[in-house]
Amino acid sequence: MLVSAKEMLQKAKAGKYAVGQFNINNLEWTKAILLTAEELRSPVILGVSEGAGKYMCGYKTVVGMVNGMLEELNITVPVALHLDHGSYEGAKACIEAGFSSIMFDGSHFDIEENVAKTKELVAICEEKGMSIEAEVGSIGGEEDGVVGMGECADPQECKKIADLGVSMLAAGIGNIHGKYPENWAGLSFETLDAIQQLPGDMPLVLHGGTGIPTDMIKKAISLGVAKINVNTECQLSFAAATREYIEAGKDQQGKGYDPRKLLAPGTEAIKATVKEKMEIFGSIGKADE
Ligand code: 13P
Repeated sequence: MLVSAKEMLQKAKAGKYAVGQFNINNLEWTKAILLTAEELRSPVILGVSEGAGKYMCGYKTVVGMVNGMLEELNITVPVALHLDHGSYEGAKACIEAGFSSIMFDGSHFDIEENVAKTKELVAICEEKGMSIEAEVGSIGGEEDGVVGMGECADPQECKKIADLGVSMLAAGIGNIHGKYPENWAGLSFETLDAIQQLPGDMPLVLHGGTGIPTDMIKKAISLGVAKINVNTECQLSFAAATREYIEAGKDQQGKGYDPRKLLAPGTEAIKATVKEKMEIFGSIGKADE
């Protein structure tokens, strides 16, 4: 059964480790992440962006697929199904469809509107026993070929949103989605420290987990980050393994064109990436604590 991310993140924050949110795109992604989490006895969060939700034929399809896998693969570790960077409408659709967690990204609204919409969604989630993530300070990334360097959130605004009763808070600390440019200045630990001192024991979320050096990840965890989102890195490892398979001509040997064979190296590569991240995040074995 899917669970809210609230309890797993409170435990992670208290235990000074982080739970990975790995974004899913299809059946292979979901299966690879769930099997790895189960094997390593790690709690896990499956992230679904609105685009990925559309690609997978809608939120109800995603809920059906994930619930089916939890049962058929005998998954016993805590798993949350979480909307990533949801709009107000998307958040409501996922609540309806049976997700166990949502992110409402109101970071592009002014702070008053972000507060009003977040507040309304917090009330709905509380009633349904779901977790909700809010965001302050937009997280940069590549948009139309322009790479934003990642904003730093205003700690006072973070407190305003945290006080609404959200389960976890994403704050921009110079992190960006996708690959980091060579001239990236790194995470702003000064901002992170200021934020973690304000909202008490709120689990903080670090987006853009791909390509952040291990020492920075560990320092971020020591400063209150309890959830780390990873998407691009699984895509890169899947693509590299698939490329290698095809470039070696394996799709043309025997029944190598069978999708179950063609997609197998990529699926294994996702497993390896997820394992590597769970080791760094310190979540291995934590499902049983
Ligand atoms: P990356 O694609 O950079 O790993 O970021 C993932 C993310 O933050 C999803 O919200």
